[in-house]
Amino acid sequence: MKEELQKLRAESLAAIQQAENSEALEALRVKYLGKKGELTAVLKQMGTLSAENRPVMGKLANEVREELAEALETGRKKLNDRALEFRLAAEAVDVTVPGGFVPVGKQHPLTKVIDEAKEIFIGMGFAVAEGPEVELSEYNFTRLNTQEGHPARDRQDTFYFDNKDSVCLRTQTSPVQVRVMETQPLPIRIISPGRVYRKDEVDATHSPMFHQIEGLVVDEGITMGDLKGTLNALVHRLYGEDTHTRFRPHHFPFTEPSCEVDVECFECHGKGCRVCKGEGWIELLGAGMVHPKVLEGCGIDSDRYSGFAFGVGAERLAMFRFGISDMRLLFENDIRFLEQF
Ligand code: DAH
Repeated sequence: MKEELQKLRAESLAAIQQAENSEALEALRVKYLGKKGELTAVLKQMGTLSAENRPVMGKLANEVREELAEALETGRKKLNDRALEFRLAAEAVDVTVPGGFVPVGKQHPLTKVIDEAKEIFIGMGFAVAEGPEVELSEYNFTRLNTQEGHPARDRQDTFYFDNKDSVCLRTQTSPVQVRVMETQPLPIRIISPGRVYRKDEVDATHSPMFHQIEGLVVDEGITMGDLKGTLNALVHRLYGEDTHTRFRPHHFPFTEPSCEVDVECFECHGKGCRVCKGEGWIELLGAGMVHPKVLEGCGIDSDRYSGFAFGVGAERLAMFRFGISDMRLLFENDIRFLEQF
């Protein structure tokens, strides 16, 4: 019986060490220690031993049982540890792997420059106003002191909706001036960015749809000095403090006096080049003191109140701001172009 027990011990310990998984281990436990197990079978023979042999064999058998139980427990722990290691390795996140590329859109250069201009004007106390793109000719022209028969109302320039030419796509953001003066209390300080439409052929500097930013200030004691200071502030903030401006007399029906504002050419700084066509200056916007007729037409006492207004082409602002030489690039939606801003 001693040999039998020792053989069983050696065999079972070796088998336990080689067990590959917990099912195999459990099968070994049943095989040796189970009710019908091999060790149990040996122990059942104890009764046949002599009184003197029995305690010796009993002790040995107990030792073998304990050893087996211990080996099973160690094996179980080892397998559990290994399983955990596998799982950790499989689930590990490698934080050094470069992240996936997520394409993020960019702001259109026009949107950018309009937002910049808004920021600048809001900082000076202006509010942002809106008006319709489908506008009454009355607001687009007549109320802006541009009567019927005026060349600006020509069918060549304007998209009309009806035979009477009473509804059109606005050709300028200036009608927002009238809408604001009609409805808002004084003093007024607004800008109004938006789309405008003209029957223009597409070329490097023209498009049948483009954007303007209108500005209007009405209060007591507003002078041309306020106009100059405000527009210089815009130019300096957008293009740098050392950018020179030039205010040139001009004519607009709805302002008196009127002017156009030029900025020193961003390319040659006044020397004259291809971009400014040798002038050294580039026209940026139209402006002036609101015509008394326009004020009165909106019920504002022109003896007490005065105002200035301006209208700037947003495409021009963007082209100077980013050095873009062809306006068509702004509307073609070529990602290779748009990505650069
Ligand atoms: N609306 C004019 C245009 O489209 C620009 C303009 C000139 C706007 C003078 C004004 C202004 O408000 O005072 O050419």
